[in-house]
Amino acid sequence: MTDILCIVGARPNFMKIAPVMKAFVAAGISAKLVHTGQHYDAAMNEQFFADLGIPHPDINLEVGSGSHAVQTAEIMRRFEPVLLQEKPAAILVVGDVNSTIACALVASKLGVAVIHVEAGLRSYDRSMPEEINRVLTDQISDLLFITEKDAAHNLAREGIDGARVHFVGNVMIDTLHHNLPHAVPASATLGADMARSYGVLTLHRPSNVDDRDTLAGLLETVAMIAADLPIAFPLHPRTRASIERSGLQAWLEKPGIRVLPPLGYLAMLGLMKDARIVLTDSGGIQEETTALGVPCLTLRHNTERPATVDEGTNTIVGTDRKAILIAAEDILNGGGKAGRIPEYWDGRAAVRIAAILLQWLDGRNYAVA
Ligand code: UD1
Repeated sequence: MTDILCIVGARPNFMKIAPVMKAFVAAGISAKLVHTGQHYDAAMNEQFFADLGIPHPDINLEVGSGSHAVQTAEIMRRFEPVLLQEKPAAILVVGDVNSTIACALVASKLGVAVIHVEAGLRSYDRSMPEEINRVLTDQISDLLFITEKDAAHNLAREGIDGARVHFVGNVMIDTLHHNLPHAVPASATLGADMARSYGVLTLHRPSNVDDRDTLAGLLETVAMIAADLPIAFPLHPRTRASIERSGLQAWLEKPGIRVLPPLGYLAMLGLMKDARIVLTDSGGIQEETTALGVPCLTLRHNTERPATVDEGTNTIVGTDRKAILIAAEDILNGGGKAGRIPEYWDGRAAVRIAAILLQWLDGRNYAVA
């Protein structure tokens, strides 16, 4: 009998599930891994399983790409029979991708408990698909594990019973601690010359990359920074497609810009660790740079991860050229935030989760409808 079915689907899920599955083995909780197949390219997927030592998925739903509705519906359609077959006590979902809400919805309709790791984060920007996924997943979750204290206030405001909410810290930082000694040195990715002093850029959010003018503006701004400091740019498939569609390829050839394929976890960690500056619209990278003490400029107008700003090294700069250039110059001139490590970002979040779940499973009688 499986106690818990763990769900992953997209790249940012993989680093969150790795320590959870390890902690389950250590605690004697039986778990199976379901991969929805939302991300499927080797570079977005297999490389992470290899880097992070995640067990091969027990079940792969192989949904692939599609519009939000098609992708979400297809995951639900394929996940329902799996859940009926497996009859776990609970499913565990992480983060905020389409796979998270799709599987949570199927489970809650079948009366199977939903555990949400990284609950309660809010950008208060409902134009982000991830914000919709977060709000809805939290509403139908039975146990909610949060990474920072602010998340508890967000959940309370939405009427979620505080007894179901547990502040355990950040499982993604567990992964970072565990893998730091194995990070691929930046010189192996960039060459010794560039590795002496460089910045890193990642872009993939629809609001930044789907609109031609916004994307062109950001690439032009980064090219200005790259004239002084070489910038490594691992390119997400959505962004590559959008650059090609918009005829913006010339910006990728500007002096100082080094385009890379999507990197594996250990190569990306090595790159971030020694960067002088990271520019990003990712959620996870805001947290990883805070844990590494590396200055981060977030190219968005908000963040769902306020601890990275209030305590860490993150600054929200939006997409305005002047604001980005001023903040970047400040960092490169030795300014920027020193930051401190937020509470419980100590590498033991997954162990705390396993301990709580062990007790919860103990006191429970379950059956799939
Ligand atoms: C998804 C998540 C986002 C996360 C991001 C990280 C949702 C709503 N969004 O966005 O929260 O930060 O992943 O990567 O779930 N593609 C490939 N190969 C792949 C995966 C995707 O070529 O392995 C292409 C798809 O064809 C698609 C595009 O990339 O056109 C976007 O993929 P999708 O899964 O829809 O969302 P992401 O933008 O990756």
